[in-house]
Amino acid sequence: MEKNQPKKYIAANWKMYMLPEEAKTYWQTWALKPKLSSALEVIFFPPAWCWTTAQAQNHQLATSQAKSWSWGAQNIAFEDWGAYTGENSPKAAQSLGAQWVLLGHSERRSLFAEDSGLIKKKWLKAQSLGLKVMLCIGETLTQRQNRSWPQVLTHQLQEVLLDSQGEPKTPLTIAYEPVWSIGTGVTPTPEDITATHKHIQSTLRELFPQATIPILYGGSVKPGNAREILKLPEVDGVLVGGASLKVEDFYSIAQAALT
Ligand code: PGA
Repeated sequence: MEKNQPKKYIAANWKMYMLPEEAKTYWQTWALKPKLSSALEVIFFPPAWCWTTAQAQNHQLATSQAKSWSWGAQNIAFEDWGAYTGENSPKAAQSLGAQWVLLGHSERRSLFAEDSGLIKKKWLKAQSLGLKVMLCIGETLTQRQNRSWPQVLTHQLQEVLLDSQGEPKTPLTIAYEPVWSIGTGVTPTPEDITATHKHIQSTLRELFPQATIPILYGGSVKPGNAREILKLPEVDGVLVGGASLKVEDFYSIAQAALT
């Protein structure tokens, strides 16, 4: 990465994997790795049962700036507290040190019927608490093939972000994750990623003329393809699922952003 280039985001989505003791070992191993550039922002999205481990391990790293990482919830409720059995309180996440929330992941949308109305409520809640948001959007294979993806992505952004009373109150990033690429080993071509990110960028510019909103790519990012994806000027980082579960793989993806 050249001097003065904007920072890149390297985010790990651990999904419903990892025991607390495994997470502890992971972060302890991460802490022993050579320093990464401060031009990288490393973010972990652990499952909720690893939040206290994240809090403890993150605290121990507080003095080592170049190896520091932040973390966030994979999903939050739209209220601070309440009779919401099985939900994750954003207040609890925050009080344990979470700075981020991941919203609208395609697995939440398709498997748990989260629609844009619900995601919008969560986005408003996150902003009211001062949490940073990584909002996931992405088209299905059919939508890619029938070329409706530009409208699909624009709608996904508008339905959540429109009418949000001016510019975002907390930092917002977008993770473009084509549904057909998540966990499949198939990725779009660099040309397609570039064109799609440009489209997202122009939609965001209409929604929020003043804000700088980084756009990450996600879907089958691995050590072997990370460099090719991260070197694209339109790509501000990557959101990594499967390959983030192995500390060596995730670390080499982070390193790929620097070369
Ligand atoms: P994957 O998942 O890297 O395993 O494709 C990405 C994601 O779901 O965020």
